[in-house]
Amino acid sequence: MLLPVAEVLTSQQVAESLRVLEQADWVDGHVTAGHQSARAKHNRQLAEDSAASRRLGEMILGALQGHPLFVSAALPLRVFPPLFNRYEGGEAFGTHVDNAVRQVPGTPHRLRTDLSATIFLSAPDSYDGGELVVEDTYGVHSVKLPPGHLILYPATSLHHVKPVTRGVRLAAFFWVQSMVRDDGQRTLLFDLDTAIQGLSHEHADHPSAVQLVGIYHNLLRRWAEL
Ligand code: NI
Repeated sequence: MLLPVAEVLTSQQVAESLRVLEQADWVDGHVTAGHQSARAKHNRQLAEDSAASRRLGEMILGALQGHPLFVSAALPLRVFPPLFNRYEGGEAFGTHVDNAVRQVPGTPHRLRTDLSATIFLSAPDSYDGGELVVEDTYGVHSVKLPPGHLILYPATSLHHVKPVTRGVRLAAFFWVQSMVRDDGQRTLLFDLDTAIQGLSHEHADHPSAVQLVGIYHNLLRRWAEL
């Protein structure tokens, strides 16, 4: 499932992120790339252990926790501390698949990357190119979202970032280990939850609504790995 999630960050949080990122020190994006993707990756990144990266990362993790659509769609077990990248002057990231397992920096924990996520930070009209292009069995999807909006997609997908030919593209990106590893099962739970939410506005006390909530939880109990 490829899902845009609107307004993960407020306009104030976007402005704060841009202010911090404009003053930040950027390093070569190869630092977090795997062997294959390093050859395709041409951009810059904020050092993972920098104060700016940690502070903005914590702000984003807080925003994600309180976002019902993100939680419903991702069913997060662990979220990788967000990283930040910068593309300009023709920089791009060729077609690749993200690494399956990531060590969470500074901890003994590893995370299986079930979902990949990008939060767009720059205004779309401030740069040309820079679309995130995700390939799945339904075709090729080109994504360029307003600042503060997030795109969530299965980490199993081939994807690339088109060259940025004007301006600067700033974004945050991270991975999620979901309680439900399988994209099909997770999508089914998301669809069921969405239907229940719709129903509960008008028929919250209907016995069938209660039954559907029960089915949701019993499926989650069957499929969740903690
Ligand atoms: Ni990637």
